[in-house]
Amino acid sequence: PKTWRVHHLMQAKQAGRKLTMLTAYDALTARILEAGGVDLLLVGDSYGNVMLGFDGTLEVSLEHMQVATRAVAHAVSKPLVVADLPFGSYEASPQQAFTSAASLMKQGANAVKLEGGQARVDAVRLLTSSGIPVVGHLGFTPQSENTLGGPRMQGRGAAAQQVIDDALALQESGVCALVLELVPAPLATEITKLLRIPVIGIGAGPETDGQVLVWSDMAGMTDWAPSFVKKFAELGPALRQATEDYCNAVKEGSFPAENNYRME
Ligand code: KIV
Ligand code: NA
Repeated sequence: PKTWRVHHLMQAKQAGRKLTMLTAYDALTARILEAGGVDLLLVGDSYGNVMLGFDGTLEVSLEHMQVATRAVAHAVSKPLVVADLPFGSYEASPQQAFTSAASLMKQGANAVKLEGGQARVDAVRLLTSSGIPVVGHLGFTPQSENTLGGPRMQGRGAAAQQVIDDALALQESGVCALVLELVPAPLATEITKLLRIPVIGIGAGPETDGQVLVWSDMAGMTDWAPSFVKKFAELGPALRQATEDYCNAVKEGSFPAENNYRME
């Protein structure tokens, strides 16, 4: 599609075309990711750890997400822009979820993402019936890291059925796609086959309908990245080297050279 819309997600699944999603938090990066051909951009609440230096996602506010969503949404025209509802902005009631989600849609989001299963069904129903497409998020859900005991694989053994039931409940309530994070690959495969809507995996094996990664992990901006990440570039070291070269050039007087300025 020239511009990604929600109905293209189901079409992609039916055609067996893999969906590509990356996070984005700013206009500068979003434009580059769009030019690279990514289908969906996620303004994730990983914004907090990745860009704002927070310890986790719990500190991220709705106002933070509004700023990042506006920056990404106005920078691109082709990818579908999904904005995370941050912790504390949607759990109390469907009405709270609607007010928060609407504020992100007003900044240009095409859909919102929220974490959790059966407990979110009423919120998902209200949002979708009010013109707000919703993406679900199951498995390891970072906003619940305190109850889950940290970033750990979810849905092992008997816990698999809970994830399946949650996935079916979300589909039934109208989500347009589901992110599955850190679940065993066989469980992700089973849920992908079971659902009509596309399943986008992260640390969930190769059989989901698509993949999502945090862009800075994918691009090698940092030394550390989770084990399920592949670094497709080494942008961190490249930027460090450019900085070193710039500093040296200024100090030794080789920058600016004659072609870098004009005397008028
Ligand atoms: O905030 C985020 O980056 C996410 C993805 C990892 C799915 O929710
Ligand atoms: Na998130």
